[in-house]
Amino acid sequence: MNAPIAIIGTGIAGLSAAQALHAAGQEVQLFDKSRGSGGRMASKRSDVGSLDLGTQYFTARDRRFVEVVQQWLTRGWVAEWTPGMYHAKDGQLSASPDEQVRWVGTPRMSAITRALLGALPVHFACRITEVFRGGSHWSLQDAEGCSHGPFSHVVIATPAPQASALLAAAPKLAGAAASVIMEPTWAVALGFDTPLETKVEGCFVQDSPLDWLARNRSKPGRDNRLDTWVLHASSAWSKQHLDLPKDTVIEQLHGAFAELIGCAVPPPSFTLAHRWLYARPAQAHQWGALADADLGLYACGDWCLSGRVEGAWLSGQDAARRLLEHLA
Ligand code: FAD
Ligand code: NAI
Repeated sequence: MNAPIAIIGTGIAGLSAAQALHAAGQEVQLFDKSRGSGGRMASKRSDVGSLDLGTQYFTARDRRFVEVVQQWLTRGWVAEWTPGMYHAKDGQLSASPDEQVRWVGTPRMSAITRALLGALPVHFACRITEVFRGGSHWSLQDAEGCSHGPFSHVVIATPAPQASALLAAAPKLAGAAASVIMEPTWAVALGFDTPLETKVEGCFVQDSPLDWLARNRSKPGRDNRLDTWVLHASSAWSKQHLDLPKDTVIEQLHGAFAELIGCAVPPPSFTLAHRWLYARPAQAHQWGALADADLGLYACGDWCLSGRVEGAWLSGQDAARRLLEHLA
């Protein structure tokens, strides 16, 4: 009996790899430092219903991803979101309709990764601190000092800065991961008792502390009892204000929102702030995935491709394909 394959990270990249390996008859075991799956596609449960604080929607351009999203649609995991789309530049708000198909998980973004995880074996709240080789197999050490293994291969599916630390056994791969700069995003959610009098449901913003805002409740299947909004600060603003207290971030982004939305904005009755430290790679790459096939060590994630959900899913597929090719 072969040892299983360890996958560190249950975001869309790790789960894409897990699905492909499982479908090919391989035994996998997943690990995540969080209490649930999804990573940057997770949704936050709150008093006003669940909120998509990370990924807002995703597009599908690659044929393979288009096909898989159609399967997710058939299974009821995703739905099309057709927001009243706007853009704001220099404080001027204008309607900005387009033909782009935008997908969201339903009834919340995390529905997709939850469904992909299914019954696969997983350890949550388990932060891996070291990946090391003992004889012919791999072991993982976690932050509590427990070790896990043996494993035949390891797939690291975390953001690049966390991956580089775990890739110490393969210095070339560690160096590539360490060269990727990932930028932060401050996210704020606001809930209003009385719906705002605006047609805006999604808005790309320029020349503001904000770069995106969305009416969470306008997405299909959402259970929000208030008029809920999610605001994202730009990378530049988030970097400059990385260590601001959450209350100050809420106040400043609420102010920027009130300035550009073009209708009366009362004090919100619900607020929440979340800092995504590794939100997006500063640059796209064409790596697919990183691999040292002789060692049996692989890394994947959005940072290996486009910094979007599609890129993360494709990267997970690429890691699995390379691993399976080496086994054949
Ligand atoms: P992640 O989702 O980050 O998953 C990595 C997982 O690894 C996490 O669950 C983490 O807990 C776990 N982990 C990390 N270190 C360890 C460790 N040491 N041990 C164990 N587990 C570990 N993309 C779009 O396409 N459209 C959008 O609208 C969009 N908006 C976004 C908005 C924001 C604010 C953010 C933050 C991202 C957005 N993205 C968007 C990008 C998209 O979310 C990511 O590209 C994608 O989700 C990345 O998936 P991943 O699996 O590569 O990484
Ligand atoms: P997309 O095609 O909808 O958007 C790509 C870009 O095109 C947008 O950022 C925007 O600048 C522009 N755009 C698209 N439609 C527009 C419209 N109707 N009016 C005005 N401008 C428009 O989706 P794609 O390519 O899948 O990109 C994903 C989105 O996720 C991007 O907006 C990106 O900024 C965002 N993202 C945010 C992250 C964060 O940390 N905040 C991380 C990763 C992605």
